[in-house]
Amino acid sequence: MRIIIEPDYQALSKKAAQIVAQRIKRKPNIVLGLATGLTPLGMYRELVRMHKEEGLDFSKVTTFNLDEYWKIPSSHPQSYHFFMWDNLFSHININPERVYIPSGTVDEVEVYCQWYEEEIRRAGGIDLQILGIGRDGHIGFNEPGSSLSSRTRVKSIAPETIEDNARFFKDKSQVPRYAITMGVGTIMEAKECVLLASGESKAEAIRKCVEGPICAECPASILQLHPRVIVILDEEASQRLNKKEYYRYVEEMSLNLRKG
Ligand code: GLP
Repeated sequence: MRIIIEPDYQALSKKAAQIVAQRIKRKPNIVLGLATGLTPLGMYRELVRMHKEEGLDFSKVTTFNLDEYWKIPSSHPQSYHFFMWDNLFSHININPERVYIPSGTVDEVEVYCQWYEEEIRRAGGIDLQILGIGRDGHIGFNEPGSSLSSRTRVKSIAPETIEDNARFFKDKSQVPRYAITMGVGTIMEAKECVLLASGESKAEAIRKCVEGPICAECPASILQLHPRVIVILDEEASQRLNKKEYYRYVEEMSLNLRKG
């Protein structure tokens, strides 16, 4: 795991956007896995800026979103469809036919989940997966106890996450109790992952993810087994890491090595 600690949310967002932009330039037909939540918002804003001011080209990019609430229609203002179009897709030159977001309303959900997995395979697999993390260590909507080799499916949302996500709805009772989500196993097949976390509320989840044992209690901890993961944190999210200074040292050393 490469751990990058930035001073604040703005710097974290910029760093994440730089990495995404660099990967797009290197492979214009890249397949991106995308996440929702407040954390990647700053990164999306920066990517939109890069598109508008620097001509970052999304015309050949394919995207697969991690998850969607079950069962709310894509037109619902709190749906992840709405979020993605509102915050990213409407502002860049992406081909809508290359945008995949799980449907929150399909009838034959098992068949649909298999189809979603199949589409990821047909696209050649995900090159770069963006991830946030829940306070309980979830990635996508893979809540604690999720199988670490799970695939795309409908999952119940944990009470802690319902509480957290209530801020986006009128009240807690409106928060969906289920979501359709890529599985942990699906995420682990991405060729590279970038996990973002900001703020003190994520510090404990980050400690478990980076330094804790690999266990289903913290699904994000499985990323320790992934060969290419970059964790980008702000100071607050990094504050419970036992080896924080060591990670800074390692990052500095590898940057020096690359400079030659
Ligand atoms: C949601 C999403 C996750 C996201 C997480 C954290 O429930 N399903 O993909 O990473 O919560 O959200 P936020 O970035 O708003 O803290």
